Amino acid sequence: MNKYLPKNYRKNIVFIAAVCAIVMCYMQCSPKLSPSISSVPNTTPQADLSKGLKDYFKDDFLVGVAVGSRSIRTDSALIIKEFNSVTAENDMKVGVIHPTENTYNWKNADDIVAFAERHKINIRGHNLLWHQQNAEWMLVGPDGKQASKELVLKRLKEHIFTVMNRYKGKIYCWDVVNEAIDDSQDPTVMYRKTKWLEIFNGPEFIDAAFRFAHEADPKAKLYYNEFNSEREVKREKIFKLMKKLKADGVPIDGVGFQAHWSLDYPTATQLRTALDQIVSLGLEVQITELDLTIHPRPLGAPAPTTPPVDPGYTPELEARQVAKYKEIFDILRGYKKNIKAVTFWNVTDRGSWLDSRGGGSAGDAKPATPMILKAYPLLFDVNGQRKKAYWAVVNK
Ligand code: G3I
Repeated sequence: MNKYLPKNYRKNIVFIAAVCAIVMCYMQCSPKLSPSISSVPNTTPQADLSKGLKDYFKDDFLVGVAVGSRSIRTDSALIIKEFNSVTAENDMKVGVIHPTENTYNWKNADDIVAFAERHKINIRGHNLLWHQQNAEWMLVGPDGKQASKELVLKRLKEHIFTVMNRYKGKIYCWDVVNEAIDDSQDPTVMYRKTKWLEIFNGPEFIDAAFRFAHEADPKAKLYYNEFNSEREVKREKIFKLMKKLKADGVPIDGVGFQAHWSLDYPTATQLRTALDQIVSLGLEVQITELDLTIHPRPLGAPAPTTPPVDPGYTPELEARQVAKYKEIFDILRGYKKNIKAVTFWNVTDRGSWLDSRGGGSAGDAKPATPMILKAYPLLFDVNGQRKKAYWAVVNK
C-alpha cells in the first residue's frame, strides 16, 4: 500500500478489504446465495429513461425487431429509441417481393431499408427460400406441371442475385433457408415434406441457396433459420444438417433460433444444450423471432374449434412471463460471444402474429378460421409502454 497515504486512511482501506474478503468468501461457500439473488426478477424501472434496449445490451448483442411498412410509420419513435436492428416481417419473402416471374414488389422492402439506413439501424434479410409465402410460379413448368430441378435452380439463382444485389452493403445478414427440417417428433424423418424436397428429390436446394447467396454477396452473413430448435428430436436433426453443410463446405455462418417460446418452453437446459451444439460447430447464433406467448398449448394438442375463453393479461400470467423472460436473457447474456443479435417478432402487444391463432405458437396446429386470443408476448404493452418483463431483462 502507498506509504505516503495518511495512517487513518490506510487503516480504513485495510478494514474495507477485510470486509470484502469475508463477504466474497461467504458467497463462495454458500453457492445458493448468488444464484438465488440473481434469479429474482428486478422490475424496477431505471432512472435514465433516455436509454433503449440497444443501449442496455450494447456490450452483448444487437437488439432487433420485426417490422412492416406500416409499423415503421406508426411505431417509428419506439423502434428508433429501442432497437439497432430490423427484420422485414413479411415484405422480403419470396412470394411477397417476387409474386410472378417478371414482377418485383420493391416498394415496402425499399421503405424499410431506407428507414433503417436513415436511423443507422442494421438490417437482416428474411428470407430467400421458404415453403410458405413462397413464389409458387417458381415451381411450375411451362406446361403447367411441376418444374424441373434445372429450371427451379435457374429461377432461384436469379431471384437470390436480384434481391441481394439490390440491397448489397445494406443488408448485413440473410436468412437464406427457412424451416426446411421436419417438425415432427419422428427422428427418422429429417426434412419437411415440401415441393422443394420433391423437385430436388432431396435437400440439395439448401446447399444451392447458400452457394448462390454467397456468390451474390460474399460479405453477407448467411443463416439457416428454424423454430422449435430446442426440442430434443428436432434439435438433433438441425445439428445433423449443420454438420453436413459444414462438412460439404457450404458457406453458412450461423443458425437462427426463431424463439417462438412460451411460459414453459424452452427449459433452461433445453436452451443451453441447443446453443452449445451449434456453438460447438463454430457457427454464430442469432435469436431471430423472439416472442413468449402466455397461452402455451401442450405439444401435439389440436387447435381449438371454438374461441377459447380469454383470461387477459392477469397478474399471475404476467409474473410467470417476467420470470421466463429473465431466465432466458440471463442465459443469452452468457452466450454473448456467440450470439450476434436478438430480434423480437413484432413491436408491441397491440399486434402480434400470435393473436389470431387461438393460443399456441409456431408449430402448433392453427385453428381452421382465425380465432383471437391475445398472446401478450412482447416487452411493450398494448399502449407501447415498457412492461415489467422489459425491466426484468434489462436489470442485471
Ligand atoms: O397482405 C395480405 C392481405 O392483402 C390480405 O388481405 C390478408 C388476408 O388474410 O392477408 C395478408 O397477408 C397476411 C400476411 O401475414 C401479412 O399480414 C397473411 O394472410 C398471413 O398469413 C401472414 O402471416 C405471416 C406468416 O409469417 C405467414 O406464414 C405473419 O405476419 C408473419 O409474422 C409470420 O412470420 C413467420 C416467419 O416469417 C417465419 N417463422 C415463423 C413466423 C411466424 O409464423
